[in-house]
Amino acid sequence: MSSLFEGLASQWRPMTAADLPAVAAVAARVHPDYPEDDAVFAERLRLYPAGCLVVAGAQELLAYAVSHPWHRLRPPALNSLLGALPAAPSTYYIHDVALLAQVRGGGTGAALVARLVAQARSAGLAELSLVAVNGSDGFWRRQGFADVDEPALADKLASYDAAARLMARRLG
Ligand SMILES: CC(C)(COP(=O)(O)OP(=O)(O)OC[C@H]1O[C@@H](n2cnc3c(N)ncnc32)[C@H](O)[C@@H]1OP(=O)(O)O)[C@@H](O)C(=O)NCCC(=O)NCCS
Repeated sequence: MSSLFEGLASQWRPMTAADLPAVAAVAARVHPDYPEDDAVFAERLRLYPAGCLVVAGAQELLAYAVSHPWHRLRPPALNSLLGALPAAPSTYYIHDVALLAQVRGGGTGAALVARLVAQARSAGLAELSLVAVNGSDGFWRRQGFADVDEPALADKLASYDAAARLMARRLG
């Protein structure tokens, strides 16, 4: 890993409300097929700031991640508001991760997962889960996630895309 990428991997920092326009710009570039309203990002940041992280470069925002405690086997539909977090969460849900192309492949995503695992543990949760899209399932497998087979979720996953899959990682 180059020193540039080692630097990026350690540069995940908390997202602030001032980052939201730049987060929306990264989302539009990385996830044009999975559009979400600005209100979705603003709500997640308000509900669970500890799960919202960014990597900022000198000129522009390079990456963001949004995550929060949630209910197992109940991934929110794409572009939907949560209203509130559960009083008794059963999974640490990774809602969205997006890196600009120029910072992929250098360990920034893996460093993020390590941070999210630590956050899940500190929230008292023994599982992380997510809906894998965009051909990212190989990355998540490499990070210890496995497919969760839940036929009842077919319609919900279809709100993302035909290949979307629910994946989870148990923490030992
Ligand atoms: C998917 C993503 C978060 C991965 O982050 P990254 O910083 O590029 O990944 P890393 O460099 O940390 O890769 C870690 C490992 O996963 C592997 N990997 C990365 N992306 C992969 C992919 N799409 N398929 C299979 N393996 C992948 C790497 O080769 C590396 O393997 P190694 O540990 O043997 O070296 C990032 O590429 C991204 O934001 N992509 C576009 C948006 C996206 O798909 N988001 C996820 C939606 S659920």
